[in-house]
Amino acid sequence: MRALVTGASGFIGSHLVDQLIADGHLVTALIRESSRLHWLKNKPVKLVTGDVRQLESLQMAVEHQDVIFHVAGAILSPDTRGFEQTNHFGSENMMEAIITYNPDVQKVVYVSSLAAGGPTLPERPIKESDDPNPISAYGRTKLAGEEVVLSYVDRLNVVVIRPPVVYGPRDRGVLNFFRLVAKGVKLNLGFRERYLSIIHVTDLVSALVLAGLNRDSSGSYYVDDGTSGWTWLDLQHHIAHAMETTARTFRVPLTPLFIYAALSTASQRFFHSRGWINLDKFREMVQRAWLCDSSRIQNQLGYKPSVSIEKGMKNTAEWYRKIGWL
Ligand SMILES: NC(=O)c1ccc[n+]([C@@H]2O[C@H](COP(=O)([O-])OP(=O)(O)OC[C@H]3O[C@@H](n4cnc5c(N)ncnc54)[C@H](OP(=O)(O)O)[C@@H]3O)[C@@H](O)[C@H]2O)c1
Repeated sequence: MRALVTGASGFIGSHLVDQLIADGHLVTALIRESSRLHWLKNKPVKLVTGDVRQLESLQMAVEHQDVIFHVAGAILSPDTRGFEQTNHFGSENMMEAIITYNPDVQKVVYVSSLAAGGPTLPERPIKESDDPNPISAYGRTKLAGEEVVLSYVDRLNVVVIRPPVVYGPRDRGVLNFFRLVAKGVKLNLGFRERYLSIIHVTDLVSALVLAGLNRDSSGSYYVDDGTSGWTWLDLQHHIAHAMETTARTFRVPLTPLFIYAALSTASQRFFHSRGWINLDKFREMVQRAWLCDSSRIQNQLGYKPSVSIEKGMKNTAEWYRKIGWL
């Protein structure tokens, strides 16, 4: 199979490229002039330069592909426009390029996010049949991207995957928690427990490949590690265990964090920079729960999560240490 991966220089995309190569597929990677190619170096992958914000740059990448994995996305942006340009209009450009230059493509897989579905109650994980209710600019633009992709359903074979927090080697998001735990610190927000679904990148990649190769995959699917989710403290406990260390819990009151997030937002807008927190991320962080139910993909496509939290955190901690990020 010939497969295109957009976002191939990033955390999830690069793991997907590795898996597709290992499975014997011919892989093309969409990269930007500015992309760091660290994870793609010395691999049998065809590099094509393009930017999803520029429709005319996408022809070479999309033509002659059997399956297209649209992974590229903006996760951090100082303003809504940055998210919109990549997640919404970038997906529009991708779909327009595909219908124009490769209308016979077998499958288009779009990597969306649980953020498109929105937060949940601790006792009720979200399902595909629930109405989406995104609460951040990131989530709203990921949902807009999904709507664009799914609007081609009469003309192209499309499918959407909505992962929760993804962790594993090469990830810089959850890395912040590993670094705090290494300093002996576990954080809890406010005075209530907060719950999260998670997935190891190996499991996410297997779900993406499954959705890409199965002719019957359709609509959208939540994916997770097959558990009912974790509290923030559970996760940090597992990180500490994986690092064979101990850490004390500190409660972060919400008001100072809100003020910090507001100041960071102003500074990021002024300097056109990206930071780990802003008001959009704050809004996501303070929700009681971000839980999803992956029964649909398990029942319909036979997805089986294989990486337990113990194994996943250990493999991530070991990789961070090996590369010097910890
Ligand atoms: N990580 C998570 O926990 C998580 C959870 C749910 C969903 N997702 C989704 O998964 C996807 C990948 O996330 P990630 O964690 O791998 O993020 P990442 O490491 O930041 O990778 C993002 C990738 O998208 C590419 N990209 C961004 N803007 C682009 C543009 N205008 N044109 C072409 N390529 C562009 C980046 O290229 P450069 O290298 O050139 O910047 C990079 O390869 C995103 O769509 C995200 O919304 C992630």
